[in-house]
Amino acid sequence: MSDAETVSLERDLKFTHADFRRVRELAYQHAGIVLGEAKNHMVYARLAKRLRTLGLYRFSDYLDELVSAPQSAEWQVFVNALTTNLTAFFREPHHFDMLAEHAARHARPGQAYRVWSAASSSGEEAYSAAMVLSETLAEHRHEVWASDIDTQMLETAARGVYPLEKIEGLPPTRRQRFFLKGVGRQHGLTRVKGELAARVHFFQINLVAADWPAMGRYDAIFCRNVMIYFDKPTQAAILERLAAHLAPDGLLFLGHSENIQHLTQAFVPVGRTSYRLAGPTGS
Ligand SMILES: C[S@@+](CC[C@H](N)C(=O)[O-])C[C@H]1O[C@@H](n2cnc3c(N)ncnc32)[C@H](O)[C@@H]1O
Repeated sequence: MSDAETVSLERDLKFTHADFRRVRELAYQHAGIVLGEAKNHMVYARLAKRLRTLGLYRFSDYLDELVSAPQSAEWQVFVNALTTNLTAFFREPHHFDMLAEHAARHARPGQAYRVWSAASSSGEEAYSAAMVLSETLAEHRHEVWASDIDTQMLETAARGVYPLEKIEGLPPTRRQRFFLKGVGRQHGLTRVKGELAARVHFFQINLVAADWPAMGRYDAIFCRNVMIYFDKPTQAAILERLAAHLAPDGLLFLGHSENIQHLTQAFVPVGRTSYRLAGPTGS
């Protein structure tokens, strides 16, 4: 199909292969996200809504405007539209068991035990870690820092309000201790209790940006189900940077399909998709 042809006759907005190629390049440049050929329909569906809101009919017009305004807030809207945010409370639960065991052994007197959820999406992963730390460490100080590139997700996460179904799989003790059930207009919703929410701090980080804010080291880092969107060199570079933010005896958790063998010498496996730093401090 030539660049001039639209991809599907059913589409009401003009989206050529050249437009798709541009979207792919821009997503890669700004977020490190690799959109394969098969993502054509996904890209159309996600950005078409935005074009309609802006009263635009051609993707080329939207992309021209975007590129002509490097500082425009529209870049964030563009990136937000292209991220995939699927998550759940206690997703891949074995990591939370390991976290509990690690926190019990490694929490140091006088020092907060710190966790970083590095692609936290709408916050479920971060709140899950915070629940585990509340249960395990009780009065011992602990903090969960949670970041994502997607500002819309960060807003949802900070609000801490979810459809009730999202916590249905949690044991009643956790539901009662950490969540409030919505009534009246909030019926069908649940809110993370203030005591738990106060321990979780959300902020924006683009993992592929040249600069990350000063963050210190963490006892555990969750960087799960985000590496899959990046190419190998990007994954390798991020892993090196994560290593610099992990405490010497800390744990790194990756997603179930993220294999870092051959990508880095910085980590050695300690369990299912769980790693510690290689070298003398970690051994
Ligand atoms: C599938 S979700 C994973 C959520 C959670 N970690 C989990 O495993 O359930 C992937 C998240 O990565 C975020 N993301 C994508 N590219 C990113 C980047 N360059 N920097 C930071 N976060 C990014 C997306 O916004 C999305 O919320």
